[in-house]
Formats: sequence, structure tokens, C-alpha cells
Amino acid sequence: MANIFEDEQLISNRRKNHIFKNKKPLDHRFLPEKLVHRDVQIREIARNWVDVLDNVTPSNVTLYGKTGTGKTAASKFAREQLIEAADNENIFVKIEYIRCTDFTTEYQVIAELCNRLGRDVPNRGWTKAEVVNAFRSLFRTNAFGKKLQLIVILDEIDILLDKDGDGILYTLTRTDNVAVLSISNYLDFKNLIKSRVTSSLNDKEIVFPPYGADQLSDILSERAELSFNDNVLNEDVIPLCSAMAAKEEGDARYALDLLKNAGELAFDEACENVTTDHVKRAKERIEHSKVSEILSTLPLQQQRVLMAILTLTKQKEEITSGKLYESYTEISKKDAVTYRRIFDFINELELLGIISTNTVSRGRGKGRTNIIKLQCDENLLETTLYSI
Ligand SMILES: Nc1ncnc2c1ncn2[C@@H]1O[C@H](COP(=O)(O)OP(=O)(O)OP(=O)(O)O)[C@@H](O)[C@H]1O
Ligand SMILES: [Mg+2]
Repeated sequence: MANIFEDEQLISNRRKNHIFKNKKPLDHRFLPEKLVHRDVQIREIARNWVDVLDNVTPSNVTLYGKTGTGKTAASKFAREQLIEAADNENIFVKIEYIRCTDFTTEYQVIAELCNRLGRDVPNRGWTKAEVVNAFRSLFRTNAFGKKLQLIVILDEIDILLDKDGDGILYTLTRTDNVAVLSISNYLDFKNLIKSRVTSSLNDKEIVFPPYGADQLSDILSERAELSFNDNVLNEDVIPLCSAMAAKEEGDARYALDLLKNAGELAFDEACENVTTDHVKRAKERIEHSKVSEILSTLPLQQQRVLMAILTLTKQKEEITSGKLYESYTEISKKDAVTYRRIFDFINELELLGIISTNTVSRGRGKGRTNIIKLQCDENLLETTLYSI
């Protein structure tokens, strides 16, 4: 059988893609050659890191900022620049990037660092002390009389701290020749760290504020030039994507997603240009895939709770927990869980941002009631729920 990718339709579509020149720059993993509007932050990282070129361990640095504000991109950019500079100076420095969603415990991070630096350590089985010792032995003077200087970038550090405590920071900050650059979404992430660690961390903090619409426009224009063919973007497309993303807390990743999806819609519909209508529909498409991703991973019982909430919402009913349970048992019939379990489900759905709850008082002696409200689009929920 012929390979499905050799399908003539697919091939001819690929050849005559009049919209995109190259989609890669619209992917959020793409690292652009320059990062506009982040000079201040990148310079600040460099100011701290420059010591390493004189063989002095730099200060620890923490980057803060909401999602899509360029923290990961800026740290990777600074990393590339430092590697280039260190090469010219013949310095023995390594900068290792670790995403803490991939390595979620102290053991895993230290073992990964050892492995990357050429010291084989098993992924499990050793004690933590053994791994830490293996790690520290990497910093003895090497055969050329030089000592390794290591900078560790811990991206999304909140996840690691939350899961495994602050041991990782303790170990790294108490190892000679190691500096840490932590990246966090939360300004209060220091609450996850004990004071003995805070004092050895002694970090410089750099804040990444949300982008405004004009800044997002500049970012998108740079990427659009690399990605789209000349003159296919209508002139109000980038301003609209930027304005919409500015509302979503200045998230550059969302802005890029909007632009990419708008382009894909235009391509799918064989339009000559990308228009604001494509952008508006791109927004729906992105929301849709987010919601359906969440819903498809929900257990059946939770989906039924949502079906019940949807039914009541459509009937314009005020949804109390009691009413919800009634409607839920009607849907689940004999397979229903207890009233108590429903409260857990409600909490989880609220955490996912699909619903909200509000406790109201019914007046003296009448107690308090929970009112539940849907927080996503009704139609979107209906089509997704009933197509799973
Ligand atoms: N100043 C900029 N210039 C060009 N592209 C940028 C800029 N800031 C962000 N981007 C792009 O936006 C996307 C999101 O940025 P990045 O991943 O760095 O955000 P983040 O702050 O790490 O977000 P999160 O907290 O969700 O991890 C990336 O594709 C990045 O290349
Ligand atoms: Mg990031």
C-alpha cells in the first residue's frame, strides 16, 4: 500500500501553500534571534552571569512573571549568548536547562545533571546522598587545572518545590561553583522555601511584566515575516491578535497561537488572505481544543455531573447542590455515586475552571447554599460532552 503521506492531494497542498512560508516560527518552542521588549530583563541576567567569564560563580537569579511573558525564551536566549561568549574566552562553563515538569524530584534533577555532565548515575536505586556526592565530585579540578562552573536553569520550579520540597535548592546552592536561575509563575513562590534555603539562595529577582498590545504587535510582526508569505495577512489581523492576547494577561504564546490558527483556517478554506474573521474563529478553535482536552480526560461520573449542570443551565435554573444531585441521578440512573462524592467532583471541576461556586446565605435560620455556575461556553460544552 502506498504511504499515506504520498497522497496526491496532500502533496499538492504542501507544494502550493500560499499562506505559510514556514510554520516553525509560530510554534512556541521556536527561539527567535532577538527578543524585542525584553532588553532590560536579558541585560539584568547577563549582568549577573558575566562573573562566570572571570571564573567566579555568579549570583543566583529568579525570573517571575505570568504565563507567556517570555521567561523561558529570555533564559534560553541568555544561555546561548553566554555559551558563545565563554567559547571565545576558553572558560570551562556549562549551562543546563531543566524543565521541572520533566524532572519532578531532587533525585531526578541531580541524576540528570550528572548524566549530562558525563557522570553516569542510574535513574533510581541510589540513595539521595550517593547521587549528591557523585554530583559534587564533578566540581573537582580537572586534568587541565580548571574547575567546572555550572549554571542550572530550573524552569517551572514551582512544580518541583510543590512536589518534592526545597531540597533541590539547598543541594545546588550548597555546592561550590553552582549557580541557579529559577523561573516561576508566582511572586509568592518563596513561601514554598524554608528560611535556611532562602538565605543560601540570596537571589536577584527579575520581573517579567505582561506585554501590552503594542508590544505583542511587535513580537507578532517579527514572527509573521518569517512565517507568512508576503501580503497574505490583512493589515488588521496582527492588531486584533495582539489586542485579544493583551486582554488575556499579555500572553505572547496565546497571541502566536491565534495568528497560527487564523492562518491555518485561511489555508483550510483556500482563502487568499488571512482576515479578522479567521482570527475570531481561531479564538473559538483554541478555546474549543482546550475545553475538549480537559473534558476528554475527565472520568465518566464527572462528565455526568457536567451534563447535569448543562441541563440545568439550559433550563435557566439556579443550580444548588441539591438540584444538581437530583439531575445527576436522573442521568446516571442506577450507576450514581453518593451525594457526598458530588462535592469532590464540584471542587475538582472548579479547580479546572469549568465551573464556579458561590456560597450564599438564605437568611436567618435557613442556612447557606452553594450556587454553581458554568464558566465555559454552553454550546461548546454541549458539543464536546456529547461527542466524546
Ligand atoms: N519578547 C519576545 N520577542 C519574541 N518572542 C517572544 C517574546 N516573548 C515571548 N515570546 C514568544 O512567546 C512564546 C511564549 O514565551 P515563553 O515560553 O518564554 O513564556 P513564559 O514566560 O516562559 O511562559 P510560561 O510561564 O507559560 O512558561 C514563545 O514562543 C516565545 O518565543
Ligand atoms: Mg516558560
